[in-house]
Amino acid sequence: MNDTKHHITDVVIIGSGAAGLSLALSLANYCKVSVISKGALTEGSTMYAQGGIAAVFDKQNDSIESHVEDTLQAGAGLCDREAVHYTATNAKQCLKWLIEQGVPFDMEFDEKGKERFHLTREGGHSHRRILHAADATGKAVQSTLISRVQAHPDITLLEFYNAIDLIIDKQAQEPVVKGLYVYNRKKEQVESISAKFVALATGGASKVYLYTSNPDVSSGDGIAMAWRAGCKVANMEFNQFHPTSLYHPELQNFLITEAMRGEGAHLKRPDGSRFMPDFDERAELAPRDIVARAIDFEMKRLGANCVYLDISHKDKDFIIEHFPTIYAKCLSVGLDITKEAIPVVPAAHYTCGGVMTDFSGKTDISNLYAIGEVAYTGLHGANRMASNSLLECIVFAHAAAKDILSKIEQHPEPSGVPAWDESRVTDSDEEIVITHNWHELRLFMWDYVGIVRSTKRLERALRRVELLKQEIHEYYANFRVSNNLLELRNLVQVAELIIRSALERKESRGLHYTLDYPELSDNPMPTILKPKSN
Ligand code: FAD
Ligand code: SIN
Repeated sequence: MNDTKHHITDVVIIGSGAAGLSLALSLANYCKVSVISKGALTEGSTMYAQGGIAAVFDKQNDSIESHVEDTLQAGAGLCDREAVHYTATNAKQCLKWLIEQGVPFDMEFDEKGKERFHLTREGGHSHRRILHAADATGKAVQSTLISRVQAHPDITLLEFYNAIDLIIDKQAQEPVVKGLYVYNRKKEQVESISAKFVALATGGASKVYLYTSNPDVSSGDGIAMAWRAGCKVANMEFNQFHPTSLYHPELQNFLITEAMRGEGAHLKRPDGSRFMPDFDERAELAPRDIVARAIDFEMKRLGANCVYLDISHKDKDFIIEHFPTIYAKCLSVGLDITKEAIPVVPAAHYTCGGVMTDFSGKTDISNLYAIGEVAYTGLHGANRMASNSLLECIVFAHAAAKDILSKIEQHPEPSGVPAWDESRVTDSDEEIVITHNWHELRLFMWDYVGIVRSTKRLERALRRVELLKQEIHEYYANFRVSNNLLELRNLVQVAELIIRSALERKESRGLHYTLDYPELSDNPMPTILKPKSN
């Protein structure tokens, strides 16, 4: 048994993105909060968000009902109407909270010279309703929230701490979370944290695919931890592929925002002809699942490596004003988007499913919450509408804070937790096992569990994932943990959940398209998986 370093706090939040930091700021005036992040505080999908955040600010032309209807439509019949309504209704006040924190959303002048928010548009939205900070909204949100948490005396920030597993008291009347084990990456040692409440805000799992718009930290850790702890997960087959990620050898994982299509960009074949009008009457502004599938279809049909997104017909100053980040990034590799079309391909972007929660972020385990991309609230159904994700992070962070604060006074002080046991492990002998399995997993997920699936491909992927899971489990049991090993262990778990969910869905809906069941079923239900221990 080693001498495990132990931390004690009231609420521990795993993740420092929009969800985690919003929860921390909503709690910190009332209790002690610790936020842990696997990498630097900045590192997470939030930082890279481009398009913006949806909310109804233009009362004259838009309405909450319209936001609800668009979300339901994009979700292809599988959204929980109540969750959608709850989110859209709370959107404006959450955006106002962000504005109070200091997020500098873009402004413009109306016809009468009065200042108002500039609203942009993206796929699936029937109105302009997206607040944004040029094409780097996530950076504005992330840096504003970081400056607020850093200034707060009751928030402890633990950077480069990788959460390994939750500690659950299963002897209690119902399972209750007591804390967690974390890997301190700088000291290369495992520590423990006990807390009254634990919140998972670990983001998504798109790193399970070879090509993704997500940063490295998106390895589905929260989903895997919650599953191991005994929580149900839902709708894991619906991994969203963003239609337009830059295709360039010198610049990978770089997204070209959907707002560019919202401002008039066209998708073109290599010969310069448009194709989206052939697939959907909304053309480039159809929901993402439709656009990504159309691109995949055209690329396969033509044997093309990519298609092109063209905004060069717009005024140069307009392009640079609205898309300064994309303009500069593309120019850095010799691509002038004011003059030429941008080569693009789809990439894994967003995990629509996740840990099942209620509208307060509560999971199946007492005192354990899940908020943000890690959670399944029912909002996104079979396909998330653009700019509803950051919104969900803030809405459910506030709801979880309210619920936690209603209970924290009565909650006893956190109890101790068992020390981490390292008595039976040694240092890893062959790191190559981890690197190889990591690559193999992401490659077959891309090839067999991607935009277009079939039962045969999914079964092939399941056989491989079972083998990898066993190998990684043995490795985990015998060797000391490392960051790569922990992430791989979670990725392989999440891959299994995605494949099993995809095999359960005997229809094609939203982001899940299978050649064996191309039709919609009459009575669609969410796919809910329960761990064996439940
Ligand atoms: P994240 O911001 O991903 O943060 C996750 C946090 O958890 C990180 O701090 C990470 O270090 C930490 N973490 C993970 N695992 C562990 C662990 N084991 N231990 C400790 N810490 C851990 N959505 C929109 O609504 N509008 C947009 O314009 C938009 N644009 C996007 C553009 C890009 C390129 C990408 C990738 C996504 C975009 N999205 C957008 C989606 C949106 O950004 C994400 O869904 C959202 O930011 C998720 O926030 P989060 O707080 O749940 O997680
Ligand atoms: C984008 O800017 O295209 C991404 C928006 C989103 O994922 O919601």
